Amino acid sequence: MSKFKALVASEGADGSFVQAVVERQLDELPAGEVLIRVRYSSLNYKDALSATGNRGVTRQYPHTPGIDAAGEVVESAAGEFVPGDEVIVTGYDLGMNTAGGFGQYIRVPAAWVIKRPHGLGLREAMVLGTAGLTAALCVDKLERAGLQPGAGPVLVTGATGGVGSIAVALLAQLGHPVAAVTGKADKAAFLTDLGASQVIERAVLQTGVDKPLLKEQWAGAVDTVGGDILFNVVKSLQRGASVACCGLTAGVGFQASVLPFILRGVNLLGVDSVEIPLVVKASMWDKLSLQWKLPMLDSLVHEVTLDGLPAEIAAILAGQQSGRVLVNLE
Ligand SMILES: NC(=O)c1ccc[n+]([C@@H]2O[C@H](COP(=O)([O-])OP(=O)(O)OC[C@H]3O[C@@H](n4cnc5c(N)ncnc54)[C@H](OP(=O)(O)O)[C@@H]3O)[C@@H](O)[C@H]2O)c1
Repeated sequence: MSKFKALVASEGADGSFVQAVVERQLDELPAGEVLIRVRYSSLNYKDALSATGNRGVTRQYPHTPGIDAAGEVVESAAGEFVPGDEVIVTGYDLGMNTAGGFGQYIRVPAAWVIKRPHGLGLREAMVLGTAGLTAALCVDKLERAGLQPGAGPVLVTGATGGVGSIAVALLAQLGHPVAAVTGKADKAAFLTDLGASQVIERAVLQTGVDKPLLKEQWAGAVDTVGGDILFNVVKSLQRGASVACCGLTAGVGFQASVLPFILRGVNLLGVDSVEIPLVVKASMWDKLSLQWKLPMLDSLVHEVTLDGLPAEIAAILAGQQSGRVLVNLE
């Protein structure tokens, strides 16, 4: 089997980007120690940026996006993997400038590859994907900064998105009352089904940008959107509480002041899921397969094949996705 199917993004003569499912050859894949037959991938916001020509994510086209992949090892030049091992790859350069999980095969360095934990199937792993890993990293950072059940409500912004929906479910399962912020008026039931105890309209978080401080409300927060919403969250944290910052859908810049930090001792915690050591990723996957295992994953996923991806990419860029898009590589 030297041919396989992949979604390839390419640039047209007019500078616009299109995505098409094409046949590729194994020998077109980059060098690497481990060849993997991908069974499942998933759609993340970053994949949509890569698929539509964002040079901050992907420099060269044609390119196969897909920062997530789960499948079986086919060939390995690294002693720790043998053909048939079921593995997960997320982040590092996968899907950025290395052909990614929107192809039936990937070839990657062994240092990017994790054996799937026993408690998590390949499909479940990709329902979680980078979004689930990131949500777990956010919750882990909040706990390390002192968040405990009983401290009060925890806020999640961009709550219907991939990272947001899993953060809502995880925090609720861990016993926190969760306040879910969304711009989607019709998704309140989706969020309460995931465990949110309160749903807040996004517009509420967009007011008060000019105020030095806001009412102390949140025992912690997961912010997936950035921009001025992030700083409004900082200004409404309880004394000593923390917000884990991981996303930018509302913007990369925000107006800030030192006041919440020096008057309330709050913390702004950065979260990166891409370049962290493999051992840290593995510890999060272990948690997600055991004590943080989420039973309701099927309620937040819809599954597509490569042919269905372009429509999903357009929807995530428009801020219209809810939950997770699983990609079945057949
Ligand atoms: N740091 C990391 O390692 C890491 C890892 C994964 C993801 N991320 C980042 O985290 C963010 C979320 O990723 P994702 O894959 O979960 O994307 P997603 O599924 O598109 O979720 C983003 C959500 O943000 C909200 N949103 C969209 N446009 C907005 C706007 N203009 N203002 C305010 N809210 C808006 C929407 O939720 P509502 O409609 O419910 O408000 C949307 O569903 C992205 O910026 C992504 O790049 C970072």
